[in-house]
Amino acid sequence: MKALVKYAHEDGAVEVRDVPRPQAGPGTVLVRVHSVGVCGSDIHMWHDTQSKSSKGVLPVTLGHESAGTIEAVGEGVTGWSPGDRVVCETAASICGVCALCRAGQYNLCPWREGYGLKRDGAMAEYVVAEPRVLHRIPEGMPYELAAMCEPYAVAYNAVVERAGVRPGDLVVIQGAGAIGTLSLEVAIQQGAATTVVLGTDIDAHRLEKAKQLGADHTVDVTRQDPAELIAELHDGLGADLVVDATGVSAALRQSMELVRPGGAIAKVGWGPQPLGFTIDPLVKKAVTLYGCYSHTWSTWERVLRLFGQRRLRPDLVLGGTYPIEEWQEAFSAMQRGDNIKSALRMAGPDERAGEPA
Ligand SMILES: NC(=O)c1ccc[n+]([C@@H]2O[C@H](COP(=O)([O-])OP(=O)(O)OC[C@H]3O[C@@H](n4cnc5c(N)ncnc54)[C@H](O)[C@@H]3O)[C@@H](O)[C@H]2O)c1
Ligand SMILES: [Zn+2]
Ligand SMILES: [Zn+2]
Repeated sequence: MKALVKYAHEDGAVEVRDVPRPQAGPGTVLVRVHSVGVCGSDIHMWHDTQSKSSKGVLPVTLGHESAGTIEAVGEGVTGWSPGDRVVCETAASICGVCALCRAGQYNLCPWREGYGLKRDGAMAEYVVAEPRVLHRIPEGMPYELAAMCEPYAVAYNAVVERAGVRPGDLVVIQGAGAIGTLSLEVAIQQGAATTVVLGTDIDAHRLEKAKQLGADHTVDVTRQDPAELIAELHDGLGADLVVDATGVSAALRQSMELVRPGGAIAKVGWGPQPLGFTIDPLVKKAVTLYGCYSHTWSTWERVLRLFGQRRLRPDLVLGGTYPIEEWQEAFSAMQRGDNIKSALRMAGPDERAGEPA
Protein backbone atom coordinates (compact mmCIF):
# COMPACT_ATOMS: atom_id res chain seq x y z
CA MET A 1 0.00 0.00 0.00
CA LYS A 2 1.01 3.63 -0.38
CA ALA A 3 2.21 5.51 2.67
CA LEU A 4 3.82 8.89 3.31
CA VAL A 5 7.01 8.06 5.18
CA LYS A 6 9.57 10.15 7.06
CA TYR A 7 12.85 8.28 6.68
CA ALA A 8 15.63 10.47 8.13
CA HIS A 9 16.28 13.32 10.56
CA GLU A 10 16.87 15.95 7.91
CA ASP A 11 14.88 18.68 6.23
CA GLY A 12 12.65 17.25 3.48
CA ALA A 13 13.24 13.54 4.18
CA VAL A 14 9.61 12.52 3.49
CA GLU A 15 8.32 10.56 0.48
CA VAL A 16 5.48 8.33 -0.70
CA ARG A 17 6.60 4.70 -0.43
CA ASP A 18 5.10 1.33 -1.12
CA VAL A 19 4.98 -0.47 2.24
CA PRO A 20 3.42 -3.77 3.36
CA ARG A 21 -0.26 -3.56 4.26
CA PRO A 22 -0.66 -4.09 8.04
CA GLN A 23 -2.87 -6.83 9.48
CA ALA A 24 -5.43 -6.69 12.28
CA GLY A 25 -3.85 -8.78 15.04
CA PRO A 26 -5.69 -10.00 18.15
CA GLY A 27 -7.43 -7.14 19.93
CA THR A 28 -7.01 -4.65 17.08
CA VAL A 29 -8.89 -3.54 14.00
CA LEU A 30 -7.73 -2.64 10.51
CA VAL A 31 -9.07 0.72 9.34
CA ARG A 32 -9.18 1.66 5.69
CA VAL A 33 -8.26 5.34 5.74
CA HIS A 34 -10.46 7.62 3.64
CA SER A 35 -9.11 10.96 4.75
CA VAL A 36 -6.35 12.24 6.99
CA GLY A 37 -5.75 15.80 8.10
CA VAL A 38 -2.37 17.46 7.79
CA CYS A 39 -1.22 18.73 11.17
CA GLY A 40 1.31 21.47 11.94
CA SER A 41 3.35 18.69 13.55
CA ASP A 42 3.45 16.77 10.23
CA ILE A 43 4.95 19.89 8.65
CA HIS A 44 7.51 20.04 11.48
CA MET A 45 8.32 16.37 10.79
CA TRP A 46 8.79 17.21 7.08
CA HIS A 47 11.34 19.90 7.95
CA ASP A 48 12.70 18.00 10.96
CA THR A 49 11.89 20.95 13.22
CA GLN A 50 9.68 19.06 15.69
CA SER A 51 10.23 19.77 19.38
CA LYS A 52 13.18 17.82 20.77
CA SER A 53 10.83 16.31 23.33
CA SER A 54 8.96 14.70 20.40
CA LYS A 55 11.63 12.53 18.78
CA GLY A 56 10.06 9.47 17.29
CA VAL A 57 11.18 6.36 15.42
CA LEU A 58 12.38 6.11 11.81
CA PRO A 59 11.19 5.27 9.28
CA VAL A 60 7.65 6.22 10.28
CA THR A 61 4.42 6.79 8.36
CA LEU A 62 3.12 10.28 9.17
CA GLY A 63 -0.43 11.26 10.08
CA HIS A 64 -2.68 11.09 13.12
CA GLU A 65 -5.91 12.86 12.09
CA SER A 66 -7.68 9.98 10.41
CA ALA A 67 -11.17 8.96 9.40
CA GLY A 68 -12.11 5.75 7.63
CA THR A 69 -14.05 2.52 7.73
CA ILE A 70 -13.25 -0.66 9.59
CA GLU A 71 -11.97 -3.21 7.08
CA ALA A 72 -11.27 -6.16 9.38
CA VAL A 73 -11.67 -6.98 13.04
CA GLY A 74 -9.00 -8.96 14.92
CA GLU A 75 -9.62 -11.84 17.30
CA GLY A 76 -11.33 -10.88 20.55
CA VAL A 77 -12.65 -7.49 19.40
CA THR A 78 -16.28 -6.88 20.27
CA GLY A 79 -18.59 -3.98 19.49
CA TRP A 80 -17.01 -3.09 16.14
CA SER A 81 -17.69 -4.51 12.70
CA PRO A 82 -16.37 -4.14 9.16
CA GLY A 83 -17.97 -1.12 7.51
CA ASP A 84 -18.25 0.98 10.70
CA ARG A 85 -17.29 4.60 10.03
CA VAL A 86 -14.70 5.72 12.57
CA VAL A 87 -12.19 8.33 13.63
CA CYS A 88 -9.09 7.26 15.57
CA GLU A 89 -7.52 9.04 18.51
CA THR A 90 -3.80 9.83 18.41
CA ALA A 91 -2.61 7.63 21.27
CA ALA A 92 -1.91 4.47 19.24
CA SER A 93 -0.48 2.77 22.30
CA ILE A 94 -0.52 3.47 26.04
CA CYS A 95 0.76 1.38 28.93
CA GLY A 96 -2.73 1.15 30.45
CA VAL A 97 -1.48 0.48 33.97
CA CYS A 98 0.44 3.57 35.14
CA ALA A 99 -1.16 6.00 37.59
CA LEU A 100 -2.02 8.42 34.77
CA CYS A 101 -3.64 5.77 32.57
CA ARG A 102 -5.63 4.47 35.53
CA ALA A 103 -6.85 8.01 36.24
CA GLY A 104 -7.98 8.47 32.63
CA GLN A 105 -5.14 10.88 31.83
CA TYR A 106 -3.57 8.60 29.25
CA ASN A 107 -2.66 11.60 27.09
CA LEU A 108 0.10 12.09 29.69
CA CYS A 109 1.18 8.43 29.97
CA PRO A 110 5.00 8.43 29.79
CA TRP A 111 4.82 5.29 27.63
CA ARG A 112 2.21 6.67 25.21
CA GLU A 113 3.13 6.15 21.56
CA GLY A 114 1.39 8.43 19.09
CA TYR A 115 0.54 7.74 15.47
CA GLY A 116 2.90 9.38 13.04
CA LEU A 117 5.71 9.72 15.56
CA LYS A 118 6.40 6.47 17.39
CA ARG A 119 3.83 4.31 15.57
CA ASP A 120 3.09 4.17 11.86
CA GLY A 121 0.40 6.72 11.21
CA ALA A 122 -2.59 7.18 8.97
CA MET A 123 -1.15 8.86 5.86
CA ALA A 124 -1.52 5.45 4.31
CA GLU A 125 -4.24 3.31 2.84
CA TYR A 126 -4.63 1.31 6.05
CA VAL A 127 -3.88 1.80 9.72
CA VAL A 128 -4.15 -0.58 12.67
CA ALA A 129 -5.96 0.63 15.80
CA GLU A 130 -6.96 -0.61 19.22
CA PRO A 131 -10.74 -0.34 19.75
CA ARG A 132 -9.94 1.91 22.73
CA VAL A 133 -9.16 4.79 20.31
CA LEU A 134 -12.16 4.43 18.01
CA HIS A 135 -15.17 6.74 17.86
CA ARG A 136 -18.17 6.63 15.56
CA ILE A 137 -18.56 9.36 12.95
CA PRO A 138 -21.92 11.19 13.13
CA GLU A 139 -24.32 10.17 10.41
CA GLY A 140 -23.96 12.11 7.18
CA MET A 141 -20.63 13.67 8.11
CA PRO A 142 -18.03 13.42 5.33
CA TYR A 143 -14.74 11.69 6.21
CA GLU A 144 -12.55 14.71 5.51
CA LEU A 145 -14.53 16.80 8.01
CA ALA A 146 -14.73 14.00 10.59
CA ALA A 147 -10.92 13.69 10.46
CA MET A 148 -10.78 17.19 11.96
CA CYS A 149 -12.07 15.82 15.24
CA GLU A 150 -8.44 15.54 16.40
CA PRO A 151 -7.44 19.22 16.18
CA TYR A 152 -10.84 20.25 17.56
CA ALA A 153 -10.16 17.93 20.50
CA VAL A 154 -6.82 19.71 21.04
CA ALA A 155 -8.65 23.05 21.13
CA TYR A 156 -11.42 21.69 23.38
CA ASN A 157 -8.88 20.29 25.81
CA ALA A 158 -7.04 23.62 26.04
CA VAL A 159 -9.97 26.03 26.14
CA VAL A 160 -12.51 24.00 28.13
CA GLU A 161 -10.81 21.19 30.02
CA ARG A 162 -7.61 22.99 30.98
CA ALA A 163 -8.33 26.72 31.03
CA GLY A 164 -12.10 26.56 31.67
CA VAL A 165 -13.27 29.60 29.69
CA ARG A 166 -16.35 31.12 31.30
CA PRO A 167 -19.30 32.86 29.62
CA GLY A 168 -18.46 36.56 29.53
CA ASP A 169 -14.68 36.14 29.27
CA LEU A 170 -12.32 38.11 27.06
CA VAL A 171 -10.29 35.53 25.16
CA VAL A 172 -7.22 36.38 23.09
CA ILE A 173 -5.89 33.73 20.74
CA GLN A 174 -2.35 34.02 19.45
CA GLY A 175 -2.01 32.25 16.11
CA ALA A 176 -4.43 31.93 13.22
CA GLY A 177 -3.50 28.39 12.19
CA ALA A 178 -5.71 25.38 12.77
CA ILE A 179 -5.24 25.24 16.52
CA GLY A 180 -5.85 28.98 16.98
CA THR A 181 -8.89 28.96 14.69
CA LEU A 182 -10.48 25.92 16.31
CA SER A 183 -9.76 27.36 19.77
CA LEU A 184 -11.69 30.43 18.65
CA GLU A 185 -14.68 28.29 17.70
CA VAL A 186 -14.59 26.40 20.99
CA ALA A 187 -14.23 29.64 23.03
CA ILE A 188 -17.31 31.04 21.28
CA GLN A 189 -19.23 27.82 22.00
CA GLN A 190 -18.19 28.19 25.64
CA GLY A 191 -19.71 31.66 25.80
CA ALA A 192 -16.70 33.98 25.58
CA ALA A 193 -18.06 37.54 25.41
CA THR A 194 -15.26 38.92 23.26
CA THR A 195 -12.70 37.09 21.16
CA VAL A 196 -9.54 38.45 19.54
CA VAL A 197 -7.36 36.46 17.12
CA LEU A 198 -3.76 37.49 16.51
CA GLY A 199 -1.78 36.50 13.43
CA THR A 200 1.18 37.61 11.37
CA ASP A 201 1.63 38.94 7.84
CA ILE A 202 1.05 35.49 6.29
CA ASP A 203 -2.35 35.26 7.95
CA ALA A 204 -4.48 37.82 6.06
CA HIS A 205 -6.69 35.06 4.65
CA ARG A 206 -6.79 33.14 7.93
CA LEU A 207 -7.75 36.24 9.92
CA GLU A 208 -10.59 36.82 7.47
CA LYS A 209 -11.73 33.27 8.17
CA ALA A 210 -11.55 33.96 11.91
CA LYS A 211 -13.92 36.91 11.40
CA GLN A 212 -16.25 34.69 9.41
CA LEU A 213 -16.24 32.19 12.27
CA GLY A 214 -17.24 34.88 14.74
CA ALA A 215 -14.04 36.56 16.02
CA ASP A 216 -14.89 40.04 17.28
CA HIS A 217 -11.44 41.41 16.44
CA THR A 218 -8.39 40.27 14.49
CA VAL A 219 -4.92 41.83 14.57
CA ASP A 220 -1.87 41.33 12.36
CA VAL A 221 0.81 41.75 15.05
CA THR A 222 3.41 42.77 12.46
CA ARG A 223 1.34 45.91 11.73
CA GLN A 224 -0.43 46.74 14.97
CA ASP A 225 0.31 46.32 18.66
CA PRO A 226 -2.56 44.21 20.04
CA ALA A 227 -1.97 45.66 23.53
CA GLU A 228 -3.60 48.93 22.39
CA LEU A 229 -6.75 47.09 21.34
CA ILE A 230 -6.90 44.86 24.42
CA ALA A 231 -6.62 47.94 26.66
CA GLU A 232 -9.88 49.20 25.12
CA LEU A 233 -11.83 45.97 25.67
CA HIS A 234 -13.91 45.07 28.73
CA ASP A 235 -12.45 46.80 31.80
CA GLY A 236 -9.11 47.47 30.13
CA LEU A 237 -7.17 45.19 32.48
CA GLY A 238 -6.44 42.50 29.90
CA ALA A 239 -7.59 39.09 28.72
CA ASP A 240 -9.11 36.53 31.06
CA LEU A 241 -7.43 33.93 28.91
CA VAL A 242 -4.68 34.03 26.31
CA VAL A 243 -4.33 30.90 24.18
CA ASP A 244 -0.83 30.54 22.71
CA ALA A 245 -1.27 28.59 19.48
CA THR A 246 1.75 30.00 17.64
CA GLY A 247 4.52 27.43 17.98
CA VAL A 248 6.97 30.27 18.70
CA SER A 249 8.53 30.60 22.15
CA ALA A 250 8.71 34.40 21.93
CA ALA A 251 4.90 34.58 21.84
CA LEU A 252 4.88 33.92 25.60
CA ARG A 253 6.25 37.40 26.16
CA GLN A 254 3.18 38.83 24.46
CA SER A 255 0.84 36.40 26.29
CA MET A 256 2.19 37.73 29.59
CA GLU A 257 1.64 41.30 28.41
CA LEU A 258 -1.96 40.73 27.24
CA VAL A 259 -3.24 38.60 30.13
CA ARG A 260 -4.99 40.37 33.00
CA PRO A 261 -3.78 40.05 36.60
CA GLY A 262 -5.23 36.83 37.95
CA GLY A 263 -5.87 35.57 34.41
CA ALA A 264 -4.60 32.51 32.61
CA ILE A 265 -2.49 31.47 29.64
CA ALA A 266 -3.14 28.19 27.86
CA LYS A 267 0.04 27.16 26.09
CA VAL A 268 -0.81 24.73 23.31
CA GLY A 269 1.86 25.70 20.78
CA TRP A 270 5.31 24.21 21.13
CA GLY A 271 8.44 26.35 21.28
CA PRO A 272 11.73 24.59 20.68
CA GLN A 273 13.61 27.91 20.91
CA PRO A 274 14.93 28.75 24.41
CA LEU A 275 13.32 31.82 26.01
CA GLY A 276 15.50 34.95 26.00
CA PHE A 277 13.39 36.93 28.46
CA THR A 278 12.16 36.91 32.03
CA ILE A 279 8.86 35.26 32.95
CA ASP A 280 8.49 37.48 36.04
CA PRO A 281 5.18 38.93 34.76
CA LEU A 282 3.66 35.51 35.56
CA VAL A 283 4.63 36.10 39.17
CA LYS A 284 3.70 39.76 39.35
CA LYS A 285 0.27 39.16 37.79
CA ALA A 286 -0.32 35.83 39.57
CA VAL A 287 -1.10 34.25 36.22
CA THR A 288 -1.96 30.56 35.82
CA LEU A 289 0.03 29.00 32.97
CA TYR A 290 -1.59 25.83 31.64
CA GLY A 291 0.45 23.44 29.53
CA CYS A 292 -2.05 21.73 27.24
CA TYR A 293 -1.36 18.40 25.64
CA SER A 294 -3.54 16.22 23.47
CA HIS A 295 -6.94 14.93 24.66
CA THR A 296 -8.75 11.86 25.92
CA TRP A 297 -11.77 9.73 25.06
CA SER A 298 -14.41 12.04 26.51
CA THR A 299 -12.95 15.06 24.68
CA TRP A 300 -13.51 13.23 21.39
CA GLU A 301 -17.04 12.19 22.26
CA ARG A 302 -17.97 15.78 23.10
CA VAL A 303 -16.45 17.18 19.91
CA LEU A 304 -18.27 14.54 17.85
CA ARG A 305 -21.52 15.47 19.58
CA LEU A 306 -20.96 19.10 18.59
CA PHE A 307 -20.14 17.94 15.05
CA GLY A 308 -23.37 15.94 14.99
CA GLN A 309 -25.33 19.06 16.00
CA ARG A 310 -23.45 21.17 13.40
CA ARG A 311 -22.27 23.53 16.13
CA LEU A 312 -18.68 23.56 14.89
CA ARG A 313 -17.75 24.45 11.31
CA PRO A 314 -14.96 22.17 10.01
CA ASP A 315 -16.39 22.79 6.54
CA LEU A 316 -15.36 26.45 6.78
CA VAL A 317 -11.89 25.60 8.10
CA LEU A 318 -10.82 22.86 5.68
CA GLY A 319 -9.02 24.56 2.79
CA GLY A 320 -8.52 21.62 0.43
CA THR A 321 -8.35 17.85 0.02
CA TYR A 322 -5.48 16.37 -2.02
CA PRO A 323 -4.54 12.88 -3.24
CA ILE A 324 -1.59 11.44 -1.31
CA GLU A 325 0.73 11.98 -4.30
CA GLU A 326 0.13 15.73 -3.92
CA TRP A 327 1.07 15.75 -0.24
CA GLN A 328 3.75 18.38 -0.82
CA GLU A 329 1.19 20.87 -2.14
CA ALA A 330 -1.20 20.00 0.73
CA PHE A 331 1.57 20.70 3.27
CA SER A 332 2.84 23.81 1.45
CA ALA A 333 -0.62 25.39 1.17
CA MET A 334 -0.80 25.33 4.97
CA GLN A 335 2.74 26.59 5.35
CA ARG A 336 2.04 29.52 3.00
CA GLY A 337 -1.06 30.39 5.01
CA ASP A 338 -3.42 29.65 2.10
CA ASN A 339 -5.13 26.79 3.94
CA ILE A 340 -5.80 26.67 7.66
CA LYS A 341 -6.14 22.91 7.25
CA SER A 342 -5.41 20.56 4.36
CA ALA A 343 -6.46 16.93 4.13
CA LEU A 344 -5.13 13.97 2.14
CA ARG A 345 -7.56 11.65 0.45
CA MET A 346 -6.71 7.96 0.11
CA ALA A 347 -7.94 6.14 -2.95
CA GLY A 348 -9.82 3.07 -1.78
CA PRO A 349 -9.71 -0.29 -3.60
CA ASP A 350 -12.89 0.60 -5.48
CA GLU A 351 -11.43 3.90 -6.66
CA ARG A 352 -8.08 2.51 -7.78
CA ALA A 353 -8.31 1.97 -11.50
CA GLY A 354 -7.26 -1.47 -12.66
CA GLU A 355 -7.12 -3.10 -9.23
CA PRO A 356 -9.59 -5.66 -7.96
CA ALA A 357 -11.83 -4.40 -5.15
N1 LIG B 1 -0.25 20.70 22.62
C1 LIG B 1 -0.86 19.95 21.72
O1 LIG B 1 -1.49 18.93 22.04
C2 LIG B 1 -0.78 20.34 20.30
C3 LIG B 1 -1.55 19.68 19.33
C4 LIG B 1 -1.51 20.12 18.01
C5 LIG B 1 -0.69 21.16 17.67
N2 LIG B 1 0.10 21.76 18.62
C6 LIG B 1 0.99 22.88 18.31
O2 LIG B 1 0.24 24.08 18.27
C7 LIG B 1 0.94 25.05 17.48
C8 LIG B 1 -0.02 25.64 16.46
O3 LIG B 1 -0.40 24.65 15.53
P1 LIG B 1 -1.01 25.05 14.13
O4 LIG B 1 -1.18 23.80 13.39
O5 LIG B 1 -2.18 25.94 14.30
O6 LIG B 1 0.24 25.89 13.54
P2 LIG B 1 0.36 26.96 12.37
O7 LIG B 1 1.82 27.09 12.09
O8 LIG B 1 -0.58 26.65 11.26
O9 LIG B 1 -0.17 28.30 13.03
C9 LIG B 1 0.61 29.13 13.81
C10 LIG B 1 0.09 30.54 13.64
O10 LIG B 1 0.71 31.41 14.55
C11 LIG B 1 1.02 32.62 13.89
N3 LIG B 1 2.03 33.31 14.69
C12 LIG B 1 3.36 33.09 14.75
N4 LIG B 1 3.94 33.95 15.61
C13 LIG B 1 2.95 34.71 16.12
C14 LIG B 1 2.92 35.77 17.05
N5 LIG B 1 4.03 36.20 17.65
N6 LIG B 1 1.73 36.31 17.35
C15 LIG B 1 0.61 35.86 16.76
N7 LIG B 1 0.58 34.88 15.85
C16 LIG B 1 1.73 34.32 15.54
C17 LIG B 1 1.44 32.17 12.52
O11 LIG B 1 1.44 33.22 11.58
C18 LIG B 1 0.36 31.13 12.25
O12 LIG B 1 -0.85 31.72 11.82
C19 LIG B 1 2.12 24.28 16.88
O13 LIG B 1 3.25 24.50 17.69
C20 LIG B 1 1.68 22.84 16.97
O14 LIG B 1 2.76 21.92 16.96
C21 LIG B 1 0.05 21.37 19.91
ZN1 LIG C 1 -2.86 17.02 14.83
ZN1 LIG D 1 0.30 4.70 31.22
